Formats: sequence, structure tokens, C-alpha cells
Amino acid sequence: MTSVMPANDLDARLDHLIQPDRVHGSLYTDPALFAEELRKIWATTWVFVGHESEVPEPNDYVRKKLATQDVIMTRDRDGEVHLLFNRCAHRGLQLCGDAKGNSSSFRCPYHGWTYRNTGELLGFPYSKGYGGKDRLAGLRMESVPRVASYQGFVFGSLAAEGPTLEEHLGAAAGEIDRLVGLSPQGKVRLDAGWLAHRTQANWKLLLENETDGYHPQFVHGSIFSVTGSPIGALYSDASTAVTRVLGNGHTENDLRPEFRRAGEPMRWFGTPAERLPRYVAAMREAYGEDAQRRLVEGAPHVMIFPNLFIAEIQVFNIQPVAVGECVQYSTAVQFEGGEEINRRMLSQSIGSVGPAGMLLADDTEMYERNQRGAELLSPEWLDLRRGVGREEVDANGFTVGAATDETGMRGFWRHYKSMMGVS
Ligand code: FES
Ligand SMILES: [Fe+2]
Repeated sequence: MTSVMPANDLDARLDHLIQPDRVHGSLYTDPALFAEELRKIWATTWVFVGHESEVPEPNDYVRKKLATQDVIMTRDRDGEVHLLFNRCAHRGLQLCGDAKGNSSSFRCPYHGWTYRNTGELLGFPYSKGYGGKDRLAGLRMESVPRVASYQGFVFGSLAAEGPTLEEHLGAAAGEIDRLVGLSPQGKVRLDAGWLAHRTQANWKLLLENETDGYHPQFVHGSIFSVTGSPIGALYSDASTAVTRVLGNGHTENDLRPEFRRAGEPMRWFGTPAERLPRYVAAMREAYGEDAQRRLVEGAPHVMIFPNLFIAEIQVFNIQPVAVGECVQYSTAVQFEGGEEINRRMLSQSIGSVGPAGMLLADDTEMYERNQRGAELLSPEWLDLRRGVGREEVDANGFTVGAATDETGMRGFWRHYKSMMGVS
């Protein structure tokens, strides 16, 4: 049993623990708070689950996680995508043991109950024992209450009611559009396979880090120097890039000002356009005059609350496991019609976030040391003041800070507080 704090107590505590310019270390270490987060955030909001391209054919399925829940993403024979809890309606067995496959039905290994890939109960052995076939009407593999997709990104919500996916995504939808707009066919695939990185840290430390523009120069100094990457300079004090709060807990590092200044196609990718002639030509063919802007500005760097992180050419999915543990899944973006760049995105992803990659391993070291530090008693607070005095509101009404400011974290915590029910 998890303990649930009395609501009023929690309100008062959170109001004290989350302040505009600092947050308390216990927010990352308190198991009772983690249980509350599962209830108030992960069981209510839209959570990224996977991509339609992972189940391209009728009857394809793939096992996924939705927060702590084991779900199966299926495509039925009519092409519709479903999210089913991986649980037998008989005695609750985990039904499907395979990571992925193609099947129109699932058969429970325990007593042989069989379900269609839409969840419907098809049959069960020895029906006389139930007084006939109809007695089990209503039993099925349960579906995740709400499923919706945007540009092929599939989200699930464990709550039957609430804002629509479009309302939840808000301005972040435009960032997904930006990514998709780098495919000559206006489509991405996330079918290159996912790597799972188990991390001994609270999920919020990962979220905060994803758009922290203060750390790259230090944590990622080694990969920047080895690869001669211009990325480090984007996160310097002299950078014209900005950190933006997009609302609903979404945050981004908008690097476009720096890329526009350089005005070079593919600079964001770190490979000269001449090395990608077929991709660049396909983009110009598809988008005409607008292709230049797309190729110069590049892909987004956006953290979509609570678990979808698009880091230019990789997509991450953060899954909470326990108060001090999560799994971060990563995959390389693949552009429909972009075979030439796809190969490079795959090898770059292996080099940066693969098992021996030079980028994510360094971040993970920071997450885990951050967690270990937060467990110590003193000083009690994590400071969030960076850039408070130089934030501005942009033409669209979004709060923006300098490239290295903690503007995104403050925006995240404002949304977190409202989701946890603290006014
Ligand atoms: S638990 Fe699945 S058939 Fe009995
Ligand atoms: Fe990092």
C-alpha cells in the first residue's frame, strides 16, 4: 500500500516546498509525493506512448509503458491504433510476454482465454463451467481511457475526461510540426528501435535537465571538443538562443536565432549541406522557397510535459518507475523520404545516446549525482534563480530567458504545482 497524504497537508507543504526561485530537495526523494504524482499528474495528463510507425501493418503490436502501466499498442485489421492494458480479465495475468509482433489476437498462457487485438474477449476454454458462453459478457482487455495521436505521435490518458490532446500540446504542437517539416514528405518515423536507459534519479530531474542550457558547455565539453561541434557555443553567455516556456509545462531551447545568424543550411545538424545532396534537393523540391528557412533553422529542442523530449534528431520517452528511478528511452528520428540523412541520424544517435554514447552517459551521471545530492539534508533547497531578472515576454505571450537561464525550470514547476492542485 502506498500512503496518501491528507489533501490539505499536501497543499500547504507543496506551497512551501515549491517557491518561485527555489525548490526543496524532498520533492525528489519523498515516496509519498511520488505516489501523489502518479495519481495527479501521470494518471490525468496526456502521456506520450509511442509512434504509429512502430505498428505500420495491420495486426502489428508493440509493448509500451504509460507511466508505470504495461500497455500494448496494437493496430487492428482496419488500421486503427489501440492502447490496451496488458492484463488478462480472468485472474489478472500479464498477457503478452513478447516485446512486439504481429497477431490479430492474444492468448493468455495461464488458462487460455483469448482476446482480439481490439481488446474484445473472443473465447475461453470449457464454457460450461461458467454456465454458458454469454456469462462473461463485458469482460475484455481494458483499453486506456483516451488515446489520440498528433503527427503520428501516440499519446494516452488514464483519465476519461480532461483537456483534449491538442489543448494539452498547445504551442508545443508547432514544435512537433517543425520536426515533421524537415521530412521531404512531411512525416517522421520512430521505428529505428528504442534504447532503454535505466536511471537512478527522480523523473523531474530529467525533465528539468532537458532544456537546461547552463550545463552543456561543462557536462558535454568532451563530445563537443572531440567532434568539433559548434553546439557548445549555442549555450554560451554570448548566445542569442533563448529558453522559452510554452505553457502546460512544456519548455524549449530555441536555437533558431543562432542558426539564422549563421544562415547556413544544415549547420544545426553539424554536417555541411554538400554532404547531404539528395536530402537537400528533396527538401527544395518539396518546399520550394521555404526549404532554405527549414534547412537553416533545423529541428526543435523541446520538452513536452511530462515525458516526450525531442532533442533535434532524437526522441526520448521518460518513464517514472519509483521516486528515485526512471527509464529514459531514446530513438533516432527518421524522416520519410530522407534515406540519406536517416543513416547519419542513426549513427549520430548511436554515438551520442547509444550504450557507449558520449552525450547521454554524461547527462545520466549528472542526474544520478543530482539525486544522491538531493538526498542529503543540507542545504535543503535547489536554487532556480538564474535569469530571474532578465526574463521577458515575447510577442506570443511566452516567457523567455537567455540561453543559459533557468526559465524553463521555473515554468515547469509552475505547471507542476497547478497539476498537483496547489493554487
Ligand atoms: S489468468 Fe488469463 S486465462 Fe486465467
Ligand atoms: Fe545534457
